[in-house]
Amino acid sequence: MSNSAFSAPPYWAQMILLSCLLGGGPVVAEKVALDPSNWGHEAGEDCVSCHSKASSGLARQWQDSAHQVAGVNCMDCHQADRSDVDAIEHEGQIIATIVSPKDCGRCHEKEFKEQQGSVHAEAFAIIEDRLPALADNVGGPAMRASSCDQCHGSRVKVRGDGTLDTRTWPNSGIGRINPDGSKGSCSSCHGRHRFSKAQAREPAACVRCHSGPDSPDKEVYEASKHGMIYAAHREEMNLDAPEWVAGRDYTAAPTCVTCHMGAAGKLPSNHDVGLRNAWNLNSPVSERQYLVVFEDGSKLELPANEAAPKRGSELLRPDGTRGKVKAVATPKRRRQAMSMVCLECHSKGFTRGFMDQFDSVVELFNDKFGEPARAIMAGLYDAGLLTQTPFDEPIEFIYWELWHDEGARARHGASMMSPNHAWWEGMYLVGRNFYARFLPEARAVAAERRHELVDGLLEDQAPHRWLNQPDQVSPILGLSPAGVR
Ligand code: HEC
Ligand code: HEC
Ligand code: HEC
Ligand code: HEC
Ligand code: HEC
Ligand code: HEC
Ligand code: HEC
Ligand code: HEC
Repeated sequence: MSNSAFSAPPYWAQMILLSCLLGGGPVVAEKVALDPSNWGHEAGEDCVSCHSKASSGLARQWQDSAHQVAGVNCMDCHQADRSDVDAIEHEGQIIATIVSPKDCGRCHEKEFKEQQGSVHAEAFAIIEDRLPALADNVGGPAMRASSCDQCHGSRVKVRGDGTLDTRTWPNSGIGRINPDGSKGSCSSCHGRHRFSKAQAREPAACVRCHSGPDSPDKEVYEASKHGMIYAAHREEMNLDAPEWVAGRDYTAAPTCVTCHMGAAGKLPSNHDVGLRNAWNLNSPVSERQYLVVFEDGSKLELPANEAAPKRGSELLRPDGTRGKVKAVATPKRRRQAMSMVCLECHSKGFTRGFMDQFDSVVELFNDKFGEPARAIMAGLYDAGLLTQTPFDEPIEFIYWELWHDEGARARHGASMMSPNHAWWEGMYLVGRNFYARFLPEARAVAAERRHELVDGLLEDQAPHRWLNQPDQVSPILGLSPAGVR
């Protein structure tokens, strides 16, 4: 990241950035797209009165919600059309159990539009072809429903009688494909039936999914200074406020939402959590990415080493359809948006310095480990020394853990201020894996072609030159230099 990338963009550019890509219009937008004459379904009272006995907990939660206060009842959300695939007849009414983002979008158009096309909404679609190898082979089909689907979502199947297939429901996965074709689930973050925004502002709304070896954001956040201050000053966070603009409504500490979705100064809030991310951090090699927004609202991320598509041009999308480009956010712009959040509480120099440190860790991972390891794996596959079947050979697990777990942890740690995850839980394990597991296993697989397929690829690379310094002695292993010799 060059320094010029950081300096404030001209006013007009900021406005285009903000209005086209970061939510549009003023920080405080129209709250609900419909006027109240569209809700308060007369059959709703029966639902409430009976459900105050049948599963009374959820009716009580609705009683305590903003929806109840505004007069939005059970039927306003659960009503369905007889022609909907998941419509069921229930106590004389046609209802559906699933209330999809599209249903919420009747009233919450802004949030619905931002959420559709976001990385979250695509979380099932982009892993669907990888499920057989990971979930079914390594685990077993039963694992899908209780693990992957709970976080990523499922393709919900409806049985002939309108009931939902238990192999695919319940879950409130973030990219679930709903019977009406819409993607995701608003109750991933907004627990039902309160649907509270205060609750969703808490880190806890995110960490159910964002924790563990490959996306350790819970652990990273808690270990960061931000997590430390949040824990100490939670009551100053003003989580119940109607508006929640960092720097104005609260200053104690940022939460996940502050940095990835929340309003900060002039930056509006947005339900697309990916907008402000310049890199992809959970990939074998990280790339800086353009965000392409199409006329129809869908989005696509493209590596920044390719030419940026032009506004108004047509582009072939992964699903085979063509889309007209409405706007393109460069990685630089996306970084500027993220930095605008930091600037509410930190100085420019501090923020720039932090971002430089973070970017250097990603570049180090790429150059030293990610790219060579990927090239070595590609060589072994091309030479027919590994089968194409994923996870049937030890090195495939070793390589997977190198980038997907340890490498992701190092990059997440550096991006979100946990020195522990950047090094001990991250890059230290990457290095240990690379030198002590991956390379020895790759050499064994390559056998007599080990120089051509493995060591030859590292020979001229500066980061690995230390291996050829036999006299470099240090007391690091707890032995005196004499003991090492
Ligand atoms: C006379 C009592 C009664 C009334 C009225 C009633 N329900 Fe129910 N409802 C139940 C009971 C009992 C169950 C649990 C049935 C079961 O276990 O399958 C249920 C189940 C449900 C389910 C879950 C279905 C599933 O897939 O598991 C939904 C959603 C629901 N009701 C919504 C409504 C709505 C909306 C209304 C208003 C139109 C309503 N209910 C009216 C008693 C009632
Ligand atoms: C703001 C919209 C909204 C309102 C109002 C609402 N629901 Fe729901 N309800 C949902 C959503 C979303 C789900 C989750 C379904 C899914 O996506 O899997 C749900 C799920 C359910 C379920 C099945 C899940 C479970 O936990 O058992 C029942 C039963 C239910 N609702 C009943 C009711 C009743 C009764 C009322 C009125 C007191 C009501 N709902 C009001 C949105 C709503
Ligand atoms: C605890 C929640 C959780 C579970 C369970 C889970 N994932 Fe994920 N997965 C995530 C999160 C969060 C990310 C995003 C990581 C990031 O970008 O930082 C992710 C990322 C991925 C990616 C990388 C996607 C990309 O961006 O290319 C794949 C592939 C994947 N998961 C597959 C699976 C499969 C298959 C399963 C089940 C065997 C599974 N996941 C189970 C939460 C989960
Ligand atoms: C990734 C978590 C997440 C998901 C998924 C999510 N929301 Fe939200 N939502 C939030 C957070 C966090 C806030 C509070 C934002 C703030 O105040 O900065 C919020 C706020 C809201 C608000 C209040 C807006 C206001 O200005 O008062 C509405 C309405 C809303 N969400 C609707 C939805 C709908 C509809 C969906 C599904 C299309 C959805 N949300 C999905 C996290 C989420
Ligand atoms: C029929 C219209 C309608 C539908 C459908 C609807 N809502 Fe709402 N929603 C409202 C109204 C009205 C409010 C109150 C607005 C206010 O307080 O200014 C509200 C408020 C909210 C809030 C803010 C709550 C708070 O703490 O202030 C959230 C979050 C939310 N809705 C989410 C959802 C989700 C998720 C769905 C779908 C499961 C949904 N809504 C469906 C009309 C609707
Ligand atoms: C129900 C599970 C779930 C919840 C809750 C959830 N996420 Fe995610 N999130 C995911 C998965 C799965 C992915 C990976 C999606 C993909 O790669 O398409 C992801 C991806 C992301 C990304 C990466 C975007 C990118 O550029 O690749 C960010 C940032 C993120 N989530 C932030 C949040 C925040 C902030 C919250 C809470 C307000 C949250 N998430 C709540 C499951 C979840
Ligand atoms: C102080 C701001 C800040 C806080 C707080 C924060 N993040 Fe991040 N997060 C970042 C930055 C900066 C990046 C790297 C952005 C980039 O790619 O340029 C990032 C990256 C991520 C990614 C990786 C996206 C990818 O490209 O794979 C995920 C997922 C994520 N954050 C989720 C979370 C969750 C969940 C929390 C709360 C537990 C959280 N973040 C708290 C600033 C923050
Ligand atoms: C709502 C206010 C707020 C926002 C927004 C915020 N921070 Fe912080 N940050 C703090 C506070 C408070 C501390 C603790 C101050 C201290 O004692 O060092 C802190 C500490 C830090 C530290 C540790 C400093 C040290 O000396 O150990 C880093 C690094 C950091 N923030 C980076 C960022 C970055 C990068 C962003 C934007 C992506 C950001 N912060 C956004 C409030 C904020």
